[in-house]
Amino acid sequence: MINRGYYGTFGGAFVPEILVATFDELEREFRKIKADPAFWNEYRDLMGSYSCRPTPLTYAENLTKHFKGAKIYIKREDLNHTGAHKANNVMGQGLLVKRMGKTRVIAETGAGQHGVATATMAAKFGFDCTVYMGEVDVKRQRPNVFWMEQMGATVVPVTQGSRILKDAINEAFRDWVTNMDTTHYVLGTACGPHPFPEMVSWFQSIIGKEARRQILEREERLPTRVYACVGGGSNAMGLFAGFTDGDVECVGVEAAGRGIASGQHASRLCSNDASVGVAQGYKTYFLQNSDGQMNETHSIAAGLDYVGVSPILASMHEKGEARFEAVTDTEVIEALKLTMKSEGIIPALESAHAFAQAFKEAPAMSTNDIIIINQSGRGDKDIFTIADAIGDPSWRKFIMEKAGEYNA
Ligand SMILES: Cc1ncc(COP(=O)(O)O)c(C=O)c1O
Repeated sequence: MINRGYYGTFGGAFVPEILVATFDELEREFRKIKADPAFWNEYRDLMGSYSCRPTPLTYAENLTKHFKGAKIYIKREDLNHTGAHKANNVMGQGLLVKRMGKTRVIAETGAGQHGVATATMAAKFGFDCTVYMGEVDVKRQRPNVFWMEQMGATVVPVTQGSRILKDAINEAFRDWVTNMDTTHYVLGTACGPHPFPEMVSWFQSIIGKEARRQILEREERLPTRVYACVGGGSNAMGLFAGFTDGDVECVGVEAAGRGIASGQHASRLCSNDASVGVAQGYKTYFLQNSDGQMNETHSIAAGLDYVGVSPILASMHEKGEARFEAVTDTEVIEALKLTMKSEGIIPALESAHAFAQAFKEAPAMSTNDIIIINQSGRGDKDIFTIADAIGDPSWRKFIMEKAGEYNA
């Protein structure tokens, strides 16, 4: 067991002996690229030519008028290639894999966005690709499974445990232990053993660096608050990285699911249901019972129902360097409907958590205040879940007719 990469008391690298050399190699190679400005330039060029960076910062004029409070801007990570911020991390790790000379990548995915981004990167760079995905998520994010397979990835439905993201992570680690010579594990969020939290946050910091430059160009001042949803924490870490001055309040928004009191949620930092523990190779707040068994989690957003949280965010929470809130599934659907109708923008269910919290706070803020909401992804992938939640009768009719055609 190696023991470094701590943020306060959180983090570390609790990995099996057999993976220690692999982690050492990864850290060594990561340190090299981090210190090499040429790598960051190569990465920025790739993201510019392949992934639509810099993503725009959109002024949400209609929402601003609607709430009559803070001026609302949206950082458009949904416009990345593959529809989410996940591309930032995956393409960066892809360039790293090329340097390390490995030929195969594996990944875990919840909402499927990270899996699609990894399958895309593997297709572009010519790597073999296997994606582990909980059986429950395979069902609720079927369109993303379809795309991963079309791009040549093997999607392995995980039938262990509660068959969601945490179980997919366990399976990915099992694979890595067996195939570490040829394989790199493209971890999708700012969690897991060191150096993953630091590495993923570094690739995602492009969000905050751009957003800072863009808001200064446009408004000649910094925002009052910035909002990001928190699953594992990668888009939040990315956005917050641009606003670490202390003058800007960073707000992370977790999933309150069916309500904190119901116990059916995924709130690790702002419920009393989580406690500090070590699992999946690192130390953080986990939703677990007194025996250390992971609890079931719930969120309408597949990407937010993870049992752990970035050790960097856990540390920021304890030090009061960021504020964490949680919003319910119902509040998320209301925020999504308002955003679609008033701005013509369709946020992913994950991102809509950040919108919902911002909408609670914007009306009480002054018209001199500015807020930035990170739209971590676009909602296309969620069409089935959103249509169900809204109860749209014509969509239901369409699905029934389509099913009829297949049955005919
Ligand atoms: C669009 C989108 N946003 C947010 C998340 C949550 O992940 P993180 O907290 O690492 O940004 C996911 C995860 O799948 C996602 O697909």
